[in-house]
Amino acid sequence: MSAGLSEAYMKMFPQEAQKKVSAGKKNLMLDIPEYNKAWNLYRDTSLDIMKRHEYMAQCIGFTDKDTEAIRESKELIAPHLEAILDHIYWEKLVNDPWLSRWFRDETGKIAKDYVTVRRARQRRFLLKILECKWDEEFWNYVRWVGAVHVPIFGFEELYIPMRLNFALWGYIHHYLFNLLAEVLKDDPEKLRRMTIAWTKMFWLIIDVYHIDYSAAWA
Ligand code: HEM
Repeated sequence: MSAGLSEAYMKMFPQEAQKKVSAGKKNLMLDIPEYNKAWNLYRDTSLDIMKRHEYMAQCIGFTDKDTEAIRESKELIAPHLEAILDHIYWEKLVNDPWLSRWFRDETGKIAKDYVTVRRARQRRFLLKILECKWDEEFWNYVRWVGAVHVPIFGFEELYIPMRLNFALWGYIHHYLFNLLAEVLKDDPEKLRRMTIAWTKMFWLIIDVYHIDYSAAWA
């Protein structure tokens, strides 16, 4: 730039002539050790699914006792599994005007074969939970199942609104609790242990399930 031009430029943008100082605000996340720990937790739990699980589990208070309670509940739930699935799919889903939208053919009729396929996939999901193996493979599976409900990586056509997941999770949750309350009406202590364990597990799953719904904000 010639001297003349440079002078004209500096007149137009006087701030350019001043000594530059950092305009950045102090970043407390980097400067204060306590906040720095929080930042590291945010970063680690976003990058590593097992760290996310460990952090969430300790916040929620999910322990080996809860795993034990869920494992114990398997023998109570297993005999009712088919009835639970039939109920969710053939009574709840296909009869709800919004939930059933994805289960209809192009004429608007319920696509029975497709419902049967979806029911089988849901069955596999519930059985995986009942295995009680909270390892990386399990959490990646939960994340993937959630991710198939949003338009990413091969599922570009599909978008299930988040509120419908909450609606269905909430429904399955209370349906299961009713079942346990029925089977365990003479053993309130066992009922308490199992419902507490399942409540914690539902929250843990719902968190991971929705990671890809809004990745950066989850
Ligand atoms: C409790 C929450 C839900 C669970 C646990 C769940 C479970 C699953 C599973 C396991 C899969 C399949 C993955 C595989 O191919 O193995 C799947 C896919 C699918 N889900 Fe869900 N789902 C939930 C909520 C919903 C809701 C609310 C709807 C819509 C009303 C829905 C509609 C679908 C559809 C349309 C697909 C399939 C895509 C395809 O045809 O491949 N899901 N879901």
